[in-house]
Amino acid sequence: MKAIAQDVYGSADVLQLREVAQPSIGADQVLVQVRAAGVDPGVWICMTGRPYGARVAFGLTKPRVAVRGRALAGVVTAVGSGVRRFQPGDEVYGTSSGGTFAEYTATASGRLALKPPRLSFEQAAAVPISGVTALECVRDGGRVRAGQKVMVIGAAGGIGSFAVQIAKASGAKVTGVCGADKMDLVRSLGADEVIDYTREEVDRAGPSHDVIIDIAGCRPLSLLRRALTPRGTLVLAGGGHDAGGLLGGYTRQLRAPLVSMFTSQHLRGLASRERAQELEELAQLIESGAVTPVVGRTYPLADAADAIRHLAEGHPTGKIVITVDAEEAPRTP
Ligand SMILES: NC(=O)c1ccc[n+]([C@@H]2O[C@H](COP(=O)([O-])OP(=O)(O)OC[C@H]3O[C@@H](n4cnc5c(N)ncnc54)[C@H](OP(=O)(O)O)[C@@H]3O)[C@@H](O)[C@H]2O)c1
Repeated sequence: MKAIAQDVYGSADVLQLREVAQPSIGADQVLVQVRAAGVDPGVWICMTGRPYGARVAFGLTKPRVAVRGRALAGVVTAVGSGVRRFQPGDEVYGTSSGGTFAEYTATASGRLALKPPRLSFEQAAAVPISGVTALECVRDGGRVRAGQKVMVIGAAGGIGSFAVQIAKASGAKVTGVCGADKMDLVRSLGADEVIDYTREEVDRAGPSHDVIIDIAGCRPLSLLRRALTPRGTLVLAGGGHDAGGLLGGYTRQLRAPLVSMFTSQHLRGLASRERAQELEELAQLIESGAVTPVVGRTYPLADAADAIRHLAEGHPTGKIVITVDAEEAPRTP
C-alpha cells in the first residue's frame, strides 16, 4: 500500500511517499481503509523528534514507527477475532499509533467509534486528536459550568476551534483569542468576545475569566494568571513544541501544579487520551449540531509534507486534513 513514511528524524523533507507492507491485525484490532487523516502538531513532533524528550516515546535515534499520522476517518475492512463493536463496512473515526498517512492502518478497536453520519470523512478526520483534546480541556481540565466566563487562547486553530464550540455548548460565555484575520471565524464559532492578540494582551480586562484554556502555549504563567479570577482554573494544553530543548515549552505543564500549591487559582496541564468514550461523546455534540469541525485546508496523500509545512508555520485555520483517494487503494485480500 502507499504511505507517507520516514527513516530518520528531520524536517518535512525526510517524508517519502512509498510502498509499504499492508499491516496485519491482532485479535483486538481493526483494519481500516483510511479515507482522510488529521494533521496536528503531534505529527510534527514525531517527524522531527523534537522536543527531544518525545524520543523516549517515539524512538531514541529514529522513529520506531515509520508511517506518520495518528488521526483517521475511514472504512473498516477487517476485524480481529475478539472484536465485537465493528464489522467490515462500518465508517469509523479515531486514532492509530501505526500511522494514518497511508491507505490502510491497523488499530485497537477501543480507539475507534462510529463516524458521525453528518460528517464527511475529511471533517471526521479533524476530530480524534484535536476535538478530543478540546473536550477534555473544557470538561475535565476546566470543569466548565454554564454561566462561567471562559477564555480560549489559540481559538482559530485545531484544538481551539473545537474548544470555543464545546465551551459554548456547555453554556459558558466565551472569549476567543486569535490573530486579526481569524476574528470573524472565531465569532462565527460562537465566541461572545474576540481578542486580536497582535493588538491587545489577554489580561486587558484584568482578572475576569473563570477558566482559561491556553492552547497557543507561548505565554508565561504569570501573564495568564493576571486574566484569571482569584479562584479560576488555568488549563495548559499547548506547549510551544518547537521551543527546543528536552521538553520544548512543556516545562510550564510541570511548573503549574507546583505554583498551584501556593495560590487559590487552579493551574493544571492536560494530556489527552485516545479512546472511544470521548469520540462517542463528541459524536453526540456533532450530531446535535452544537459542534462542527472547521477544515481549513485539505491535501492529497502525496502532498503530506506540504501539509505539515503549513502547520509548522503556526497559523492554520481550523484543521488541516490529508485525503486518501479510495479509488487508488488496492483491494484488501
Ligand atoms: N495536551 C495535549 O494532550 C495536546 C494534544 C494535542 C495537541 N497539543 C498541543 O497543543 C498545541 C496547539 O495544537 P493545535 O492543534 O491547536 O495547533 P494549531 O492548529 O497549529 O493551532 C495553533 C494556534 O495558535 C495560535 N497562535 C499562534 N501564536 C499565537 C499567539 N502568540 N497568541 C495566541 N494564539 C497564537 C494560532 O492562531 P492564529 O492563526 O490566530 O495566529 C493557531 O490557531 C500544540 O502545542 C500541540 O502540541 C496538546
